[in-house]
Order: sequence, then structure tokens, then C-alpha cells
Amino acid sequence: MSYPHQITSLDDYKSTYKKSIEDPEGFWASVADNFTWRKKWDSVLNWNFTEPKVEWFKGAKLNISENCLDRHLETRGDQPALLWEANDPEEHHRALTYKKLYEKVCQFAHVLKNNGVQKGDRVCIYMGMIPELPIAVLACARIGAIHSVIFGGFSAQSIADRLIDAQAEYIITCDGAFRGAKDIPLKSVIDDALIGIRFVKKVIVYTRTHTPVSMIKGRDVWWDDEIKKVETLGLHDFEPEEMDAEDPLFILYTSGSTGKPKGVVHTCGGYMVYTNYSFVNVFQYQPGDIHFCTADIGWITGHSYIVYGPLSAGASSLMFEGVPTFPDASRFWKIVDKFKVNILYTAPTALRSLMSYGDAPLQDSDLSSLKVLGTVGEPINEEAWHWYDQKVGKGKCPIVDTWWQTENGGILISNIAGITPARAGWATLPLPGIQPVLVDEKGIEIPYKEGETASGNLCIKFPWPGILRTTYGDHERCRQAYFSAYPGLYFTGDGALRDSEGFYRITGRVDDVLNVSGHRIGTAEVENAINMHAGVIESAVVGYPHDIKGQGIYAFVIYNGREDSDERNRKDILATVTRIIGAIAKPDKIQFVTGLPKTRSGKIMRRILRKIAEGEMKNLGDTSTLLDPGVVEEIKSGKL
Ligand code: WTA
Repeated sequence: MSYPHQITSLDDYKSTYKKSIEDPEGFWASVADNFTWRKKWDSVLNWNFTEPKVEWFKGAKLNISENCLDRHLETRGDQPALLWEANDPEEHHRALTYKKLYEKVCQFAHVLKNNGVQKGDRVCIYMGMIPELPIAVLACARIGAIHSVIFGGFSAQSIADRLIDAQAEYIITCDGAFRGAKDIPLKSVIDDALIGIRFVKKVIVYTRTHTPVSMIKGRDVWWDDEIKKVETLGLHDFEPEEMDAEDPLFILYTSGSTGKPKGVVHTCGGYMVYTNYSFVNVFQYQPGDIHFCTADIGWITGHSYIVYGPLSAGASSLMFEGVPTFPDASRFWKIVDKFKVNILYTAPTALRSLMSYGDAPLQDSDLSSLKVLGTVGEPINEEAWHWYDQKVGKGKCPIVDTWWQTENGGILISNIAGITPARAGWATLPLPGIQPVLVDEKGIEIPYKEGETASGNLCIKFPWPGILRTTYGDHERCRQAYFSAYPGLYFTGDGALRDSEGFYRITGRVDDVLNVSGHRIGTAEVENAINMHAGVIESAVVGYPHDIKGQGIYAFVIYNGREDSDERNRKDILATVTRIIGAIAKPDKIQFVTGLPKTRSGKIMRRILRKIAEGEMKNLGDTSTLLDPGVVEEIKSGKL
């Protein structure tokens, strides 16, 4: 039995796509009919991209956790909903059936309520990749609280910034997290983040690593103690809060080209419909399949394709606590065999890293359970694509190259596994309901003509249910960032090629956002962090091609600190960035310079720095508008 609205052939894709463009409201209403609504919508879509305002299924009432849990109990209650593999391969794995997950979510919803959390409150979740993380997420959704998951690699300062922006009064965390050979002391990072923050009312702490933690009286409580109280009362159910389709479901912070990360807001109804639709279609999920998405739930991929997409479809979703290279580079393949994984969804950076270990780590694995492979987060180079195809998929598994963004909620451009054609390095065709357009530098649309190729900036001209609704607390920022560059269009920040058949190839960001190991990092953010260091006068950060990470971070720094050793100064800067943002934002290269190439109006010419970082010294383009062209010569000759 497959899913209603699952595309079954190339012709079906073509006719569905056509219908979705001709009658978007009719199309999405018929998809939405397959969910549990307490009340149906008054209108399918109201929108304009000027304010912007986007409302899907306005007036409808639902709870997404009811759609992810309750509605599966009768038919799939004993089927695994969440499977979990620990960091340590010796530790026993866990399997939570839909019934068990339902009970755990309900119990934790009681815990949240008992601790004062109410509908609309913001709850920050800072946990490792253990089942209690999706349990916390779904419990928030069940009571109507807005979750904001923060990736476990972010620093105390980054957490504090997000807590303040979201005015989150509740935090759910762990004593620590296991990641590869490391233990990360999560609670202690939270304690540091909370120095100076007075508005946080409760911190709920789950015990995972048994790392010593300090518990503040009246504020900090243990997850297990709170659950025991609920169990003693014999509570196993929790009536889900009725939410409006347009009520916020979560906030997820993501980097842009300016300033601090933005809190992208997704809402209950549209996000649910879109993640479910894209999940069952792109991966061609069939009931009973084991779906393994290797992302962290701290990123959008984990939200949409570990938690909400799979669970709303009644799927079995496998999550992994650790990293692909621990205890060695055969870990993913061992997990695939152990759980008989059917769908594997990972990032090109992980594939490139695993490739560098050669074929030996794959040798003892059978991998015959695999049916579909997916990649996400960054462009995939052809070498990695072919390696994935041949060594992992044994040439028999379609690879879906899924392009999308935090702001999109779900996959927008991708081939559909085994149904629409795959091509190495190409995300290929838009999903039904998605209307991509390319625009030139002047903002003029380059219309698609059969047989013609084009390149330009990638925009989307019509809303889909999973599009962001706002950036938390600052709607104008949302307008500025996504809807102002090309009036009437949503601008993605990516450049793309389109071939003669209308296939898209994403070429990467055209703004000042880096994609390092599939993580989005704003150059401005890294510069601000570097500039916090006492010895730094000014800095400029650009990306450069990196064999494993896709992009590396290259920082040009004017330094006036301790003269003794560049090496030591470098380390001090790295320590500062780690403290301000987190280790993921540490520059790979730091070059000390005495000046930066600037225009007469004082703007840093990043184009030139990018070329230098890429090692393309000869082809720097026009430098005549520079205030001091001599600076470029110095930087070019400078040692690293
Ligand atoms: C990039 C991750 C090429 C792109 C889901 C986008 C990709 C940014 C692909 C969003 C892909 C994502 N091919 N590039 N298949 N998928 N990107 O918000 O530059 O973390 O704008 O969302 O990743 O990153 P984000």
C-alpha cells in the first residue's frame, strides 16, 4: 500500500506538476485532505510577497503531534516510530513503537505543563541526538509551545543570543552529549549562557552522560524526577492543544549575510503538509521502510526528515547519536546493515570524508537493504556522487540530490527516487507546487525556453505550504532578507544553472553566506566574532574550496596584539571564535595583513579576497577603484 498523493511515474509527475501550477489551491487542498484536522480551513491560501504575508489553510485547527502519533496508533501502534543507535556501538540500541512514543510524548507534555509551560511560550531545546530530543520537540508541539532547537555545537554566547531573541523562558537540555570520542558538557554550556539572563524560569535536565552538573534550586529540575511524578499519577495521555494552522510551530535560527542569525518561523499546518508530501514523494517511502537521516535535529534537515516528515507519514525513522567516523569510518555501513536501512539521507561532506578512507571500511558490509540514497545541504561533486552510487548503492539505488533551505521547510528541487531522472551534481526538477525562476543581475526573469540553457539567481515566484512566515520578532528583516532583492519573488541567495530540459544545478550562494561541511555560516558573523578578540583591529572573511568541507573559512586579519608569535595569535583568535559562535565557525586559515582592499567609500572588496583565498592571484579583475591598490600586492605576497 502506498500513500495517497505519492507520485508513481514520470507521466504522473508531469501531470501532477502541471495541475499544481494551474490550480495550486485545489492541489494543496487535496493533499491536505489526508491529515487529521479538528476543523477544516476557511481558505486555502492568502498571500503577497510584498509585506510579505503567506497564510495556508487559514482557520483550520489541528495539532501536528496528533498527526505524527495518535492517528497511527490503531494501524501502526506496534511498528517502530523511532529507532536509535547510540554513539558507542556496544551500547544497546533503542526502538520506540508508535504506542511507546505516544506515551512518552504525552508524559513529557505533562511535565512541561507542570513546570508552567503554556501555549505560545518559547522553549529552547539544547540536547544531543537521543530519542528524548524528538520527544521534547513533539511534547512542545502537543501543548502548543514554540520549540527552538539549538545545535549542540553552538557556544554559550550563541545560545544566549538566541534565548534573548526568542525570549525563551524554558530550556530542555542534558547533562552532556556523547559525540565520537568527545563528551560535550551541555548543561554547563547552558549555565554559562544563563549568566546574566534572568527571564529563564525552568531548565529541565535529562541524564545522559552522568557528567557532574550544578543544579540551581528553584530553576533546574531533572527530567527523570519530573516523569516519575507523572507516572505516579498514572498519566499516559495528554489531550493535544488545538492549534490554528497558522500558529507558529517552531523557530530555527539560521545564518544570513548580515548581522546575527535570524529566527526562521514555521507554522503548524503548512509545514506539516509540506514535510509529509516531500518526504513520501522524494524518497518514495513505502510503509515498513527504515529511513535513516544522518542530520542533527539541531538543523532543519533533522526537523523535517527525522521528526515531522517521517512521523507524520507513520514511517520508521532511525536517528544516530554519533559521528560517521567513530569508532571508525565503517560506522554508517554497520548501522545500515544492523537496522536494514532502506533509505539513507546524508550530506556530501560526510561522503567526501568517508571516501577519503578508501574502500576498506565498506568491505565487511552488505548494504543490500538500501533502496534509495539522498544528499542535502551543499552541492555534491561528481566524484562523491559516483562513489555514493557505486560503492554504497552498488549502482542500483537512485540518488536524490535534494536542494532546499531552512526557510523552505522541506525539499523544493530534487529528483524523485526512481521516477524522475537523476543526474550527478544536479538537483534537477522542482517538486509539484514549486515555481522556480532564474533572474539576471538586473532582476529580470529569464524565462524557460525549451532547448535553451540559462544561469542566474534562483528565486521562487509562488508560495508553497512550507515557506517561512516571518523571522521571529522582526518581520521587516524577513522582508529585507528574502523579498526585497527582487520585488514579488522569494530570493534564495543561491545561484543556479538551468539546462535545456529545465533541470536545475545549484552552484552555491551568491551572498555572503558560507556553506562549511553543510553548515550555514555568515561571513559577517565570523568577522564579528574575530573582531571581539582584543588584538584584532579589523577582519574580512571569505570562503574557499575545501576538499572535504566543500567550503573552508579564510580570514584576513589586521592584528595589533601580542607581537611574539603569529601561531599563538592564531590560536587566540580560534579560541575567541569558538567561544562566541562555536567550533563549527573556526577559520581554517588566518592570514595576518596590514590592510584590507577597500573601495573609496570604505567597502571591503570581497571579490578580490575571495580570488586570493582561492589561489587565483593572476585573475583579480579590476582593482583600480581601490583606495590603496598596494594592499592587494601585500596580501598576495603574504605568507599564511
Ligand atoms: C545549500 C539545508 C546544492 C544552498 C537543507 C542553500 C544545497 C543552503 C543543496 C541552505 C543541494 C542545500 N545542492 N546546495 N542539494 N541543499 N544547499 O538552510 O546553498 O542549512 O541555500 O538548509 O544549503 O542551507 P540550510
